[in-house]
Amino acid sequence: MGKRILLIIGGGIAAFKSLDLIRRLRERGHDVVPVLTSAATEFVTPLSVSALAGQKVYQDLFDLNDESEMGHIELSRAADLVVVAPATADLMAKMAAGLANDLASTLLLATDKCVLIAPSMNVRMWEHAATQRNLATLEKDGILTCGPNEGDMACGEFGFGRMAEPMEIIGAIEAAVNDGPLKGKHILVTSGPTHEPIDPVRYIANRSSGAQGTAIARALLALGARVTFVTGPADVAAPVGVEVVAVQTAAQMLNAVQSLTDLDVGVFAAAVADWRMANASDQKIKKDGNGLPVLEFAENPDILATVCGSDNRPKLVVGFAAETQNVIENATAKRKRKGCDWIIANDVSPATGIMGGAENDVTLISATGAEDWPRMGKDQVAQKLAARIAEALS
Ligand code: CTP
Repeated sequence: MGKRILLIIGGGIAAFKSLDLIRRLRERGHDVVPVLTSAATEFVTPLSVSALAGQKVYQDLFDLNDESEMGHIELSRAADLVVVAPATADLMAKMAAGLANDLASTLLLATDKCVLIAPSMNVRMWEHAATQRNLATLEKDGILTCGPNEGDMACGEFGFGRMAEPMEIIGAIEAAVNDGPLKGKHILVTSGPTHEPIDPVRYIANRSSGAQGTAIARALLALGARVTFVTGPADVAAPVGVEVVAVQTAAQMLNAVQSLTDLDVGVFAAAVADWRMANASDQKIKKDGNGLPVLEFAENPDILATVCGSDNRPKLVVGFAAETQNVIENATAKRKRKGCDWIIANDVSPATGIMGGAENDVTLISATGAEDWPRMGKDQVAQKLAARIAEALS
């Protein structure tokens, strides 16, 4: 079901990505009503925006034609969602202060609809106390955000400030307009293996493909959840629409997870390496004739147990138990030890073909007992789990 998106394009270099955003939104059946700030017209032309949107572009607050056809109040309300992409530091400041001195800011003040912003700016501008203060105000006002991401910037610097990619924004848009039972819920899914470096070219890993975690994230999205997907280096691509945080090591995964403070549910599907090297080398270890290298291990933090024991524990925490023997017994003990609500236990012995395969054979273990699910595709397991989560939160 296509939605009507009022897209406000701010004046930043990332405005060119908004052209792709419009194209992809329309491909997915949504209508896009574009609004350009005057600064935005320095980066993209009204003609290209209007051609891609298949709609008239709105630019001027005092355009009498528009006021007779559709006034700014009506324009701001005849949408399912208002999206600001790119949301510049200036636009964010105007929104936080409640200014209304051009069409974009007036629409944002007049709307009674949910607003989603995709910030984009230089890293120093993003980190500036004023922008962070404005962001906190906007979040308090119920404005949704998507990004910014970390990376190279057009100005040559590196850091947070790059606008989220169009498909990430679409994910946030669809999560915001989706009327599924998990609408408004923020769910973390950890997924994939972790890689623990031995030296700059070698690492310890495991056989997790990330398929089950990815399927769960997709199923949760389909029920309307906002999903943050913290993933190690998986074989399977992250689903469209989640907020992806890509990590390599268990320590990085823990950091990423601990930075999330507003979670309703955590699903810990990652196959986190239990050990890392205590003595990882900065340089490539060479065959230097001094015998074989000795790899010394250190235990990684238990991310699931840490979250379960923290003040920020989500209401519902789902862990996984990858076992090769005494599956139910081990998984039942693991649930208690780690402090999670449910454990999805599976037998990952090579003979089952589960690790890296398309199917899974799981048992859901909760405080009330063990429930054996028939062997089925990882997508079906994901859908069943997502439905259970929705039921538990209702
Ligand atoms: N897990 C985690 N952090 C770790 C290890 C595991 O968050 N350092 C999580 C996994 O994502 C999974 C659950 O804990 O949800 C169980 O993982 P599993 O590998 O089955 O258990 P382990 O803790 O490794 O226990 P054991 O090695 O005794 O089987």
